[in-house]
Amino acid sequence: MALVEDNSGPWRVGVLFSQTGVTSAIERTQLNATLLAIEEINASGGVLGRPIEPVMYDPVSDPKKFRSLAERLFQVDKIKLLFGCYMSSTRKAVLPVAEAHRGLLFYPTLYEGFEYSRHCIYTGAAPNQNSLQLARFLLSAYGNRFLFVGSNYIYPYESNRVMGDFVSQGKGKVLDEIYVPLYPEPKDFERVIDRIKKTSPDVIFSTVVGSGTAVLYGAYRASGFDPTRMPIASLTTSEAEVAEMGAEAAEGHITAAPFFETLSSSAARRFVTSFKEKYGADAPVTAGAEASYFQLHLAMRAVAKCGTDDPEQVLANLRDSEFDAPQGRVRIDPENNHTYLWPRIARLDRNGRFQAVWNPGVRVKPDPYCVVQSLDDWSVDELPLLHS
Ligand code: ACM
Repeated sequence: MALVEDNSGPWRVGVLFSQTGVTSAIERTQLNATLLAIEEINASGGVLGRPIEPVMYDPVSDPKKFRSLAERLFQVDKIKLLFGCYMSSTRKAVLPVAEAHRGLLFYPTLYEGFEYSRHCIYTGAAPNQNSLQLARFLLSAYGNRFLFVGSNYIYPYESNRVMGDFVSQGKGKVLDEIYVPLYPEPKDFERVIDRIKKTSPDVIFSTVVGSGTAVLYGAYRASGFDPTRMPIASLTTSEAEVAEMGAEAAEGHITAAPFFETLSSSAARRFVTSFKEKYGADAPVTAGAEASYFQLHLAMRAVAKCGTDDPEQVLANLRDSEFDAPQGRVRIDPENNHTYLWPRIARLDRNGRFQAVWNPGVRVKPDPYCVVQSLDDWSVDELPLLHS
């Protein structure tokens, strides 16, 4: 007997971003952007005349909760497409569930790379789209002696390993690698400040995530270090963490990402304006939010094209598909389910706003396994931009 699809009601999609816990500030921006995209699609008539209905829970920044809620979404709520996850530990917890249910997870966060699942579309940056460019910039602008500081979980270990490789290719040296608990106390950063004083690096590369970020930057500022000579550089310090630390602690520090709230293109301005109209002038707009926004649009456009949210059909439709995202035109790479993105580097000014210091206007093919792992070759996308 053929299965008859229910095609009368709304398209129900799963949404898992933490509204509480250590990474809730950044995850709230991802949730907001997901809901903004859903609202836009629904306001223009839905998908094939049917509205999108998000089924959401708060997984409280906890991998176990992510896993059990993902199970509930697939098993009880019967969703097929899931949008969510920030920390790599939470993605690693959810992926086996998505795979077991033959669902599709859309993951809108930069991560450490070295992963592929048929059941995941990765829309944040892989290391060859942020770490590589950041290493090159830091080596030429500040020097080659690096100190690594990170939160105690998988993304920082792995991201530091990749960054360490790039630093050594650039004839640099990693002086030390320090990890603090995911929920750090101020005393954890005293140890970090002591190491900075003792080793006097040229750059601190931070893979600290979530609310601990403000504590690190605050402690750095209170110690009187000079960010113009020895900045903290990061891939995870976004507008959300800057909002928590304030402009004084943020000034002079550096982040690499494909999107910043301050981008001047008309597509970026449109997105930021819509976001702030809905969530308030002070609501931070982050690269994670931008990826959440465009991935929802991309996914639902694929649903519209295939007339079903069946993950196999959506996946086939997404291969090679392009979308005019706020950061520029993005594209899903059929080789690895990751996304062609536009790397950028920005420095925080005295108002706590990111100002571009490197913005080449080049789209980079994802290379999640760093096969082309060279400081001089970052797999520039040489294909002409396709018309959608
Ligand atoms: C991360 O854990 N992927 C930031």
